[in-house]
Amino acid sequence: MIKKDVTVNGIGRTIIVDPDVFLADVLRQQMLLTGTKVGCGQGQCGACSVIMNGKVIRSCITKMKRVPDDAVITTIEGIGTPENLHPIQWAFVVTGAIQCGFCTPGFIMSAKVLLDQNQNPAREDVRDWFQKNRNACRCTGYKQIVDAVMEAAAVLRGEKQMQGFSNLLGKNGNVWGTAYPRPSAIYKATGTWDFGDDYRAKLPSGTLFAAIVHAEVSHANLKDVDTSEAEKMRGVYRVITAKDIKGTNRLIAQLEGYERPILCDKKIYQYGDSIAIVCADTEENARAAAEKVKADLEELPAYMGAMEALSEDAVEIHPGMPNLCQTLKIKKGENTAPLMENAAFMVEDDFYLQRQPHMPIEPDVGFGYVDEQGRLTIHSKSIWIFFHASQIAPGLGLEADQIRIVENGVGGTFGYKLSITCEALIGAAVLATGRPVFLRYDMRETFIYTTKRSPFHMHLKYGADKNGKIMAMESNFFVDHGPYTEFSSRLTERGTQFMGAPYGIPNIRGQGQTVISNHSWGGAFRAYGSPQSYLATEVLIDELAGKMGMDPLDLREINVLRPGDTFPFGQTPDVFPFPSMIKKIRPGYEEAKRRAKSQSKDTVKKGVGIAVSVFSAGHDGPDVAETGIELTPDGVTIYSCWEDHGQGGDIGTLSTAHEALREALNLKPEQIRLVMNDTALVPKGIAASGSSSQVVTGNAIVDSCNKLLDAMRKPDGGYRTYEEMMTENIPIRYTGRYESHIRDENGKLVKCTQCDENRQGRPFETMMYALFMAEVAVDVTTGKVRVEKFTLISDVGKINNYAVVEGQFFGGIVQGIG
Ligand code: FES
Ligand code: FES
Repeated sequence: MIKKDVTVNGIGRTIIVDPDVFLADVLRQQMLLTGTKVGCGQGQCGACSVIMNGKVIRSCITKMKRVPDDAVITTIEGIGTPENLHPIQWAFVVTGAIQCGFCTPGFIMSAKVLLDQNQNPAREDVRDWFQKNRNACRCTGYKQIVDAVMEAAAVLRGEKQMQGFSNLLGKNGNVWGTAYPRPSAIYKATGTWDFGDDYRAKLPSGTLFAAIVHAEVSHANLKDVDTSEAEKMRGVYRVITAKDIKGTNRLIAQLEGYERPILCDKKIYQYGDSIAIVCADTEENARAAAEKVKADLEELPAYMGAMEALSEDAVEIHPGMPNLCQTLKIKKGENTAPLMENAAFMVEDDFYLQRQPHMPIEPDVGFGYVDEQGRLTIHSKSIWIFFHASQIAPGLGLEADQIRIVENGVGGTFGYKLSITCEALIGAAVLATGRPVFLRYDMRETFIYTTKRSPFHMHLKYGADKNGKIMAMESNFFVDHGPYTEFSSRLTERGTQFMGAPYGIPNIRGQGQTVISNHSWGGAFRAYGSPQSYLATEVLIDELAGKMGMDPLDLREINVLRPGDTFPFGQTPDVFPFPSMIKKIRPGYEEAKRRAKSQSKDTVKKGVGIAVSVFSAGHDGPDVAETGIELTPDGVTIYSCWEDHGQGGDIGTLSTAHEALREALNLKPEQIRLVMNDTALVPKGIAASGSSSQVVTGNAIVDSCNKLLDAMRKPDGGYRTYEEMMTENIPIRYTGRYESHIRDENGKLVKCTQCDENRQGRPFETMMYALFMAEVAVDVTTGKVRVEKFTLISDVGKINNYAVVEGQFFGGIVQGIG
């Protein structure tokens, strides 16, 4: 141990520490300064940035023996508070630079050093600074972060003043339709917003720390698990294997089989599968003991891709279920074979989009305990809290209503937390030990044991008439879903729905085939199934344009959806914005082409790419959500399940409710209290996925608000106060409900329906449309591509919050470029 005298946030401290412990751990666990976050823990992401002796340092790789005596350290807690924000914190809040907020303290501390040195940086200087100091953000696309630093610099130079947030309200006092900050932003900017790992020190004494024994092969029979040595290790309380689990030890999949174990019992299906859980007094002791658990394995051939899993000699990964486990066919209009034969132009090609990790900056984390009502309570990054309770219940031997799921503050998921990760393991550990249990995956574990975007192998074919109008499309594609089938039907269906979706193609034949492999399991990822589909759709239309000698934008203009057209799944679009989007982009497109031509050199060629896309705002078929509202002496409380993985569930709920109540009650935003994302406290809601929250949960909030207003309305048209409601004994709490619906051919409102066996139906209430233009430079000697400019035109419907929607655009674009 060493004794260190340091000054932290202006206060002199003496601390006794292990010289090899990292500063981040000392700050977080010894000093309880949890505003400093740990993401990668490897010096790569900058989430842990603090200021030491005037320099930005990454505290996760700074050992205490390298911290100088009398070091002056500043953390996010040291520069401002929610009531007294530093200009940089204020600027991050008002510019929409904060989404999940996990990276935010690191960025703010880094920006502080930049602005201490240079109060007048150029945007490029800000970008270079963050690059040099390795500050990474997975959500924002960085644009609004640079805006924030520029805004803060202007304040520090005295050219601007920090304005109160009420200045960001609309002229009618509206939150809706403005860029009003999300309620969590102030806390994220000041490091006072708790993410999962921040609860570690807030759990009671006696809490156990879990470590998972992961498989280190991709396919094997599991013959035995020997825990004897691990059980003797220091601090170990219990080692749990499949035989300790009281239920079926299987996670039910929504649509498919029951093949995914909580803890492996018969087989290892992929690298990273969970074999045992070690519970100990500290995380370090649990991890040390986990290394002593021995698995007796009979290794089997590992099929690391769909094509390998389909080879003739491949064994069934799940005995009894073929590796090619599902085929979904699409059939729209006439038979395409003769149309292809007689087409004036025919193009076909093969495409592959690889597996993609979500890479949130926050690793996977959660904890569990038994609550005061005897419910197994699990806090995690879940973005489907109600379904996750029912998904893990049979495996643990419980009923769904015996399980309570609470969503923690979440440092990004981008969809991976639509799937169960740590929840069932935590549940099993709490039930087996009878103690609270905390489980944090490190970044490596997060990579090996969370879902990925599934690769698609696609063959696509267009037949067009002499004018370039595509009359027929044929598709055949394979979805490599890894070893577990959950959500694979929906993903494969997305391929049938979105290939060719921006175009009015009257005749389609095709099939999507789901394949089980031993690579990482597939799950939801931003715009589920559409990046794969549009890679094929859009590259092939460029190939058709090339074959016809036509400009790619002109060819798209001929083919995009217009009145009278339908989507591949037979549904009529709600709107037809593509022709006007193309008109809007055209001057910029022509200019970009001229620029590319004039700037191209022998070694670096420049070019312009165009793509169009459409994606559903909702899940297939009927999507149902409920929310609650309660009148309070000071305003209202909204109870909603609008899980927030950084996309803005809090501001979504707040401004939807505020707008629904505005004319009648004229509430200030701070009079609306939010209770969110706890299955014990809020009515049953849906997943925050598939862009459905604003449409479905948002409309349920409006319904609940309307019900309250109906109850408050007086005969003269005015509204009762809280006191009057109580005096008249009128209920003050109401539940709103919304079910997605659509207008049929006759204009009548009908429920959304899932697609039939030909993948025809009316599955989505509404859609979002986009047109993208990328200007790129390609070094033809190395193949290195640089995206020099990117333009997006989009129709997402009525906008609740501009900062949030722009944040999704910038973040989505940057993830796409990556
Ligand atoms: Fe320290 Fe990533 S750089 S957590
Ligand atoms: Fe930067 Fe989420 S806001 S990682």
